[in-house]
Amino acid sequence: MTSLDALAGTASRGTLYGIGVGPGDVRYLTLRAAGLVRAVDVVAFFAKKGMPGNARRIVAPLLAPAQTEVRLEYPMTEEAPADSAAYRNAIGAFYRDAAGHLAALLKEGKSVGLLAEGDPFFYGSFMHMWRRLSVDFPVEVVPGVTGMSGCWTRANTPITWGDDVLSVLPGTLGEKNLVERLRLTDAAVIMKVGRNLAKVRRAVEKAGLLSRAVYVERGTMEDERILPLAECTDARGAYFGLVLIPGEGRRL
Ligand SMILES: C[S@@+](CC[C@H](N)C(=O)[O-])C[C@H]1O[C@@H](n2cnc3c(N)ncnc32)[C@H](O)[C@@H]1O
Repeated sequence: MTSLDALAGTASRGTLYGIGVGPGDVRYLTLRAAGLVRAVDVVAFFAKKGMPGNARRIVAPLLAPAQTEVRLEYPMTEEAPADSAAYRNAIGAFYRDAAGHLAALLKEGKSVGLLAEGDPFFYGSFMHMWRRLSVDFPVEVVPGVTGMSGCWTRANTPITWGDDVLSVLPGTLGEKNLVERLRLTDAAVIMKVGRNLAKVRRAVEKAGLLSRAVYVERGTMEDERILPLAECTDARGAYFGLVLIPGEGRRL
């Protein structure tokens, strides 16, 4: 029988790996992701100021004590609106510096694994590094189980049946926009709920979908919380929070 390590493969010199680490439970990493976390010269991860870094926390059971780590700390996260000049300037400069830091390691011939929560190409900060570094360096992206997939699994909620159309909506959209899009879809996932929770709940109610909506916080993580959105009266939600509205399509 082939060993798991042989299936996972190895890391190459001077290569950037975007490693999807899944929704929170380390057991949901792919073989390739788990193998690379152990094989790369450097494990890099993004983290909020003063926080350990969620992606790093997910893979902590796999890290060797002597593993070289690079922590890329956001100068801000939710302190300013994402469309404000303050946010764009601060985060733009941060991504430029972070890419410069990783480029220097890649030039030295190091293999660098940049951890990404869920899937790297799905609303991921990794994409900002990929955009800058894939021009000059080989990059391999390892897909991951998305947060929403982990959440609907843990909520025991099949999301689409038959010909259901699924809309993935950022909770950062305006309330009117959310209502219009929710009215047009069969099933929905509303991401980035966080401080938008009250607005998202109003929009779901206006679209007539409150009775079907489920709120999931930190799905698959140890402190996971799952409840009907109608029963969630919190003024704001956790950063790792989303709303599921399952479709009601063809059931045979
Ligand atoms: C910047 S996006 C990153 C998405 C990630 N790349 C993915 O594939 O799921 C962050 C948003 O994903 C959602 N999310 C990701 N993982 C989650 C989880 N385990 N539980 C609840 N929401 C999650 C939340 O809405 C959060 O605000």
